[in-house]
Amino acid sequence: MEFPKELIQKLKSARSVLFFTGAGISAESGIETFRGKGGLWNKMKPEELASFDGFMRNPNLVWEWYQYRRKIVRDTGPNPGHTTIAEFEKYIDDVTVVTQNVDNLHHRAGSTNILELHGNIERNFCMDCRTFYGIKDFLDVEEAPKCPKCGGMIRPDVVWFGEMLPQDIFAEAEGKAKMSDVCFIVGTSAVVYPAAYIPLSAKEGGSYLVEINIEPTEITNLVNCSLMGKSGEILPELINYFKGEI
Ligand code: APR
Repeated sequence: MEFPKELIQKLKSARSVLFFTGAGISAESGIETFRGKGGLWNKMKPEELASFDGFMRNPNLVWEWYQYRRKIVRDTGPNPGHTTIAEFEKYIDDVTVVTQNVDNLHHRAGSTNILELHGNIERNFCMDCRTFYGIKDFLDVEEAPKCPKCGGMIRPDVVWFGEMLPQDIFAEAEGKAKMSDVCFIVGTSAVVYPAAYIPLSAKEGGSYLVEINIEPTEITNLVNCSLMGKSGEILPELINYFKGEI
């Protein structure tokens, strides 16, 4: 695959690169995306499975669904899209991953600077005493568990629709985006806010925007370079091309 000269030039001179990722980067690991063809929200109701009210109405249904997703994540692993992003840390001073994903695959791929905007499926917490628990604490528990300490309800540490993002993490992500030299937008429909402000903040800061997606999105008209295809194929090719140029 040929890559635009300008992109390689920008990467060669970049001090700070940000990867803003969505569900599409994990698609090649066998994890379903939310929208588009075969998306989860085409067959499941987000208001039932990914909202606070849905959890309060039917905690066992929501818990069961997260245990199901956790099993899928446990039985798979990072793909070359994730591992290539981690590899860029060898060639560029400051590489930050700002992810909407809760699947922990960037961690497992070895990235060291990750900002999780929507939480992490491998964590739970008690809604009363705020004690945090790992997934191992409730591995095969089928019904929504109670806190061993205070008896409160345990919920997944993910951001549900209508809930606030962790403000400190969002503020740090915005700051990193604004100071980035190159911002990759990988595998996201870029329709969910406030997360989707991150690439806009990067553009505001003068960053060079590169989209990697299998199809055009809401943000395609705003980027400097659009690479259409699977991230697990394009990113490894890009880093090899880049390594050949440095
Ligand atoms: N490589 C690159 N892009 C891909 C691939 C792939 N292999 N497969 C799918 N895509 C693209 C799709 O074309 C789509 O644009 O990934 C995008 C996935 O979009 P969504 O399913 O909307 O996921 P995302 O943007 O991460 O959703 C944002 O919405 O449901 C909530 O909290 C959830 O974090 C999520 C947020």
